[in-house]
Amino acid sequence: MIDLHCHILAGIDDGAKSLDEALALITLAEQQGVSRMVVTPHIHLGIYDNNLQSINTAFEILSNEVNKSDLTVELYAAAEVRIAPEITLFIEQQQLPFLGRFDNHDVLLLELPSSHVPAGTDKLVSWLFAHNVIPMIAHPERNRELQIHPERINPFVQAGCLFQLTASSLIGDMGESAQLLSEYWIKQRIYSIVASDCHSIKRRPPKMSLAVQLIEQLTDDKYAHQLSTLTPKLISDALTIY
Ligand SMILES: [Fe+2]
Repeated sequence: MIDLHCHILAGIDDGAKSLDEALALITLAEQQGVSRMVVTPHIHLGIYDNNLQSINTAFEILSNEVNKSDLTVELYAAAEVRIAPEITLFIEQQQLPFLGRFDNHDVLLLELPSSHVPAGTDKLVSWLFAHNVIPMIAHPERNRELQIHPERINPFVQAGCLFQLTASSLIGDMGESAQLLSEYWIKQRIYSIVASDCHSIKRRPPKMSLAVQLIEQLTDDKYAHQLSTLTPKLISDALTIY
């Protein structure tokens, strides 16, 4: 399995608090069969003001520790980018890291607020496609507007966006609404990948293998393999360490 969304760079967002916790999270992921992780710290203006430099510095520290350990996971770095008007400028300035490539586009892991779908999201999505960037919407099942109006995802499906399921949503750790909506969208095969979005050992550990079992039960082995391995591999094969 390949995990394209996790918060394991110590101390630069609300994820792992220490290198020890980061290594423990990677150990848990490996035990479940994860062989590659793309670390995706938050870039959320005014909250987590990360940039290529802060991510790269923290990534090098983690990579060095992993190389010294018995861990065998392949690590790459990207980010989870909170929707903001400044995204267009940052992309023009090549200031945002991508998750990889898909269908000849760069892939941007794009986070909506949990409360609603902001006005103008459709315009940003159009702008991104026009600039050869495909948005991957992070955990749409956790968005409260979409929980009430699931059909409001349709314009983003029609635009060609990718969608990331968070493993713990399907398991039920994110509440009943997120669980029910993720089950519904899994059955509709709306999702492109499943990822852990792990943050911490106690509060939000990685649970990829359990989620894959549930996807197999709700659909079939082939779709579960596509979401957990094939598509994440296809996207992240384009990554290099910057
Ligand atoms: Fe996240």
